[in-house]
Amino acid sequence: MTLSILDGRPELKRKIYEVAEVAGYLWQKGWAERNGGNITVNITEYVDDAMRSLPALSAPVAIGLTLPHLKGNWFYCKGTNRRMRDLARAPMDNGSIIRITDDCAHYEIVAEKPVKPTSELPSHLAVHNDFVERGVDYKASVHTHPIELVAMSHTDKFLKKDVLSNLLWSMIPETKAFCPRGLGIVPYRLPGSLALAEATIAELQDYDVVMWEKHGVFAVGPDVLEAFDQVDVLDKSARIYMCARSMGFEPDGMTSAQMKEMSVAFNLPK
Ligand code: 13P
Ligand code: ZN
Repeated sequence: MTLSILDGRPELKRKIYEVAEVAGYLWQKGWAERNGGNITVNITEYVDDAMRSLPALSAPVAIGLTLPHLKGNWFYCKGTNRRMRDLARAPMDNGSIIRITDDCAHYEIVAEKPVKPTSELPSHLAVHNDFVERGVDYKASVHTHPIELVAMSHTDKFLKKDVLSNLLWSMIPETKAFCPRGLGIVPYRLPGSLALAEATIAELQDYDVVMWEKHGVFAVGPDVLEAFDQVDVLDKSARIYMCARSMGFEPDGMTSAQMKEMSVAFNLPK
C-alpha cells in the first residue's frame, strides 16, 4: 500500500476531506459543470517539520504577484482543469499541496502528485494574503458557478451596489442571519486575471461573498463549509425570487422594518 502524506496527520486529513465534501455538494447542486469552480485552503497550521523538509515536486512557478504575508504559507488547491466530482472522491489526485517560496512570488508543488493548481490561483492567494495581513482568521476560499445567482448578474439593475444583496436578504430571514455581510459585486474581468484578483480583494473588505459578474461567486470563511453555506443561503433566496416570478408575480420581500428588526435582534453588522 502506498503511503499518503495524510497518513498520521488526522487534522490535515480532516481539512482536505472537508474540501472533498464541499466539492461533492457543488457538483450535486449543478454549480460545477466540467472543471467549473475552485477551492483553496490555508493549511499552514497543520504543517510539521517532516513536511517542511519534503523536496518540491515542481520547479518554482511564478504567481504573477508578490504576496509578502504568505511567506512560509502552505495551501491545498484544486487542480486546474480538474472536476469537482472527481475531487470529491479523490482529493489528492485532483488537487495538490503547495508552499509559497521565500521570495513570496512563486509556489512549489510539494504533495502528493504534480497536479497544477487552479487557474484562479492569483485571486485565491491574493485573498489569503489579505487575510493574513489584516489578521482575519479566514482559511478557505471557494469559487463556484451557481446557476440562479449567475443568471441574476446578467442585468444591470442587480449590479448596482447592494441592490441584489437587499433583494436576496428580503426573500427569507435566514439569508440575512447567515450571510450578514451580504453579496458584493465585482464587474466582469477576465477569468484567472490579476485584475480579477485585485477587484475581488477590494470588494471582500466589505463582504464575505462576491459576485463575479456573468461568471460565478467567490466566497470566503473560517473553513470551507462555512464559505459554502453562505453561497447556499444566497442561492436559496435567488431560487425563491425566481420561483415567485415564474408564478407570475414580483415577490414583495420582507419590509425594511422587518429587515432592521432582524439586524437588531441578531446583532448583525448591516
Ligand atoms: P480551474 O479548472 O482552472 O480551477 O478553472 C475553473 C474556473 O471556474 C475558472 O474560473
Ligand atoms: Zn469560474
